[in-house]
Amino acid sequence: MLRTTELQKVFRTEELETTALHKVNLHVQKGEFVAIMGPSGCGKSTLLNIIGLLDNPSGGSYEFDGTEVSNFKERHRTSMRKGNIGFVFQSFNLIDELNVYENVELPLIYLKMKASERKQRVESVLERMKIGHRKNHFPQQLSGGQQQRVAIARAVVANPKLILADEPTGNLDSKNGLEVMKLLTELNKEGTTIVMVTHSDRDAGFAHRVINLFDGKIITEEQKRKLEVMDPDAVGV
Ligand SMILES: Nc1ncnc2c1ncn2[C@@H]1O[C@H](COP(=O)(O)OP(=O)(O)OP(=O)(O)O)[C@@H](O)[C@H]1O
Ligand SMILES: [Mg+2]
Repeated sequence: MLRTTELQKVFRTEELETTALHKVNLHVQKGEFVAIMGPSGCGKSTLLNIIGLLDNPSGGSYEFDGTEVSNFKERHRTSMRKGNIGFVFQSFNLIDELNVYENVELPLIYLKMKASERKQRVESVLERMKIGHRKNHFPQQLSGGQQQRVAIARAVVANPKLILADEPTGNLDSKNGLEVMKLLTELNKEGTTIVMVTHSDRDAGFAHRVINLFDGKIITEEQKRKLEVMDPDAVGV
């Protein structure tokens, strides 16, 4: 699904240079669920943003689904992202001015999908996330757990191959956090590849593999459970 080779990210300001990622080699297979852990500032979000084509690396290579994308311009990255990658963030990042239905519909509008098909997709994903009864509510009228379920609905409505989650349970209580982890695990079982940043050992326990970052480097990796591959052809870069 994705492979980084000697990936580097350096942030430069006038007086400061920060190496956020240092020679990161990461290979994630199709269908895998990978958790990334490590102390604050070690580069987790930076890595996730590059994997998610929100930012370019400063050096090294990044192959997404077989295509070298490390030098893609923003416009090109955006079009690659659409329909391929769904994001879930700690702070939900819903649009306050749009109701639940409209928030979830947005990615499909970007994909220029027909109105009738949009309606069908949005309604079905809202039901699945058990939030259909709140479709006319605005984000501020929902609990944190409900907002995150809407954010997951928005992330998966276009059937992306890859879901990237940056501390998806960070703002939730334990019960709602568990609910989110169950949803992500279900999506993974259906074949969606997941890369998730977390500070929680419980959440990392849902992953096949845990990567530990420290000072911008992968220091250890732990295989939690085996990736069961139904279709050998599905295993790729
Ligand atoms: N846009 C930026 N400009 C300059 N430095 C940055 C920028 N983004 C991140 N950094 C720096 O890169 C390093 C890694 O940041 P990153 O946000 O990836 O950490 P993190 O592991 O996600 O931390 P946290 O657990 O607190 O979210 C930090 O030292 C940070 O200050
Ligand atoms: Mg972060």
